Amino acid sequence: MVQSKNQQVIDRCMAHNFWTWSAQKEVDVIPVQRAEGVFFWDFEGKRYLDFNSMVMCSHIGYGNAHVIDAMCSQAHSLTFAGPHMATEIRARLGEKLAEVLPKELDHFLYTLGGADANENAIKLARAVTGRHKILARYRSYHGASHGAIALSGDLRRVAWEPNVMGGVVHFPVPYRFRDDLVPDAMHVSDEEYATRHLDYLEKIIQYESADSIAAIFLEAITGTNGILVPPDGYLQGIRELCDRYGILMIVDEVMTGFGRTGTWFAVNHWNVIPDIITMAKGLTSAYAPLGAVAMKAEIAEHFDHRKFVGGLTYNGHPISLAAALANIEVIQMENLVEHTRSMQLPMMKLLNGLKARHPSVGDVRGIGLFGAIELIKDKNSHIPLGEYGKTPTILKDLKELTLSKGLFHYTHDNLILIIPPLIINDEELELGFSILDKALTIADATV
Ligand SMILES: Cc1ncc(COP(=O)(O)O)c(C=O)c1O
Repeated sequence: MVQSKNQQVIDRCMAHNFWTWSAQKEVDVIPVQRAEGVFFWDFEGKRYLDFNSMVMCSHIGYGNAHVIDAMCSQAHSLTFAGPHMATEIRARLGEKLAEVLPKELDHFLYTLGGADANENAIKLARAVTGRHKILARYRSYHGASHGAIALSGDLRRVAWEPNVMGGVVHFPVPYRFRDDLVPDAMHVSDEEYATRHLDYLEKIIQYESADSIAAIFLEAITGTNGILVPPDGYLQGIRELCDRYGILMIVDEVMTGFGRTGTWFAVNHWNVIPDIITMAKGLTSAYAPLGAVAMKAEIAEHFDHRKFVGGLTYNGHPISLAAALANIEVIQMENLVEHTRSMQLPMMKLLNGLKARHPSVGDVRGIGLFGAIELIKDKNSHIPLGEYGKTPTILKDLKELTLSKGLFHYTHDNLILIIPPLIINDEELELGFSILDKALTIADATV
């Protein structure tokens, strides 16, 4: 029997590739031949609408000629220069990043992705403060490397314990629908809700001894663990606690940066200036791998006459820097931050429609083009559809169905995430939601 082109590619990949986050013989892979705009296609011409920006990273969509040309042109002039070479593209990207980040954060250390940006942020914080502990939150993800996974507050860390970086203490995240700390979270004001979390955090700081804590490390808006938008006053309160106790505030904007939430960075929603922001994903829209650590001048100055012991062969790879610069230009030229802000309302309308129609949809949340559907077994008790840390079989079935209908999206525990490329238009958004609408009847059957 002649095998389909899709199957041939899958079989050839299965023969040699080692898959991440997967049991090797149980992995489900999608054959992908090409991509353009908000769609990708398999080898037989089947089209998928991408509701996850591949790995929450293809902000400007696929096939953008401005970025591709910039990368090609960079490759023709200089494919690589070492970490201590001053290149034109290094100078230009630094200037561009300084333009879009809060103006206080104007020094940049380049990495290859999000996890190693976070590793370097940990090093900086520990070196600058002379302290070793890091406070991070439950229900968070910061990357899969030794230190970044130690920061992560979900079961991806537990899988590797006790062999992860030491010195991390976790605290609860504000999560109105399922709050660990404030039982009546659904009914209190933002102010009270933020205060109750901040009071608890201050106790932890005291129990752990402030003079042992280098940094509070957090996603401004929790990503894979549920699109948890903090109450107003929360991030401002964290900033105040950091100032009061001499702790650095580090915000991981790997997923939320570069327009995803309708502002350049999520911290812009609350006018909070962290000491360090880490970024990756939307920095290049995944046209090439790149992460960065943005730091205040005073952090960089700490190393004026002290060596920063750390680095990467591919620190500031010219092709990645060229991709980042051109990508940011596209976000600016196409007004994608403003567009994303304007898409929040249509996305929330569609999300609320699903909530009204489907008994299995317990809660919907979103900001910019960063949305979540939380599935439950019972509307009153909020019992999640499936155990913490496990994808319920129903959701696997649902995903199979949506994929067969040409929609690609991400699921995590009892959550469906909506994180499309920022270039998506109303029609494309509605198309994806109409597929989800039909598929959710599978989940409704379990309520
Ligand atoms: C918030 C956050 N931080 C860090 C990372 C790790 O980034 P990378 O996979 O590029 O190492 C991720 C990846 O999903 C993330 O979502």
